[in-house]
Amino acid sequence: MLIRPAEAADWESIWPFFREIVTIGETYCYPDQITSESARSSWMTEAPGITVVAELEGRIVGSARIGPNRDGRGAHVATAAFMVDPRSQGEGVGRALAEFTLDWARTTGYRAMQFNAVVATNIGAVSLWKSLGFEILATVPEAFDHAADGLVGLHIMYRSLLDRPILRSESSMRRVPRG
Ligand SMILES: CC(C)(COP(=O)(O)OP(=O)(O)OC[C@H]1O[C@@H](n2cnc3c(N)ncnc32)[C@H](O)[C@@H]1OP(=O)(O)O)[C@@H](O)C(=O)NCCC(=O)NCCS
Repeated sequence: MLIRPAEAADWESIWPFFREIVTIGETYCYPDQITSESARSSWMTEAPGITVVAELEGRIVGSARIGPNRDGRGAHVATAAFMVDPRSQGEGVGRALAEFTLDWARTTGYRAMQFNAVVATNIGAVSLWKSLGFEILATVPEAFDHAADGLVGLHIMYRSLLDRPILRSESSMRRVPRG
């Protein structure tokens, strides 16, 4: 699998699965009726952030967006977002994108990565982020209107990038809770 910076022309490959994931209504706070143009301007980040795509056998199967979580004095903490084409989920694309993202953020000089709104019922994502060393700092109750489950929590998840290098073998490690 190749993970590379997204080019403008990649949007037409990303948009169909972006729209599908948003329409399912279980993982992202985008409006159901979001337009391609609005989604594109939100997802196709420019410097200092970056948008990447995962390409498998010439097909774009996923994408991630990475950049500062806040401007100015909060810009040393990164954030990221991930979408994998539902036809390619569960095949390691998300983990590969997440490992790339963590490595990019660490080598770019960010001190930590924060996810601001991980839907509490998104078991696959929560489990993936935990396996990569993220912890749940807090859960905002009933902050997400899940299409199937109704009002559910949104986790704020956090991982320092200073403690140790990101290693592939880390995928199976669990973070020791802070004392
Ligand atoms: C979440 C998402 C990015 C994960 O990508 P993916 O390619 O499906 O995930 P992977 O195949 O790399 O799986 C990685 C890990 O996720 C976990 N996982 C995935 N699906 C799971 C499920 N249904 N139940 C439990 N764990 C699951 C496993 O821990 C798996 O670990 P493994 O590598 O040891 O098998 C992807 O499913 C997606 O785009 N979902 C819709 C949008 C979304 O939820 N984005 C994230 C918002 S926070």
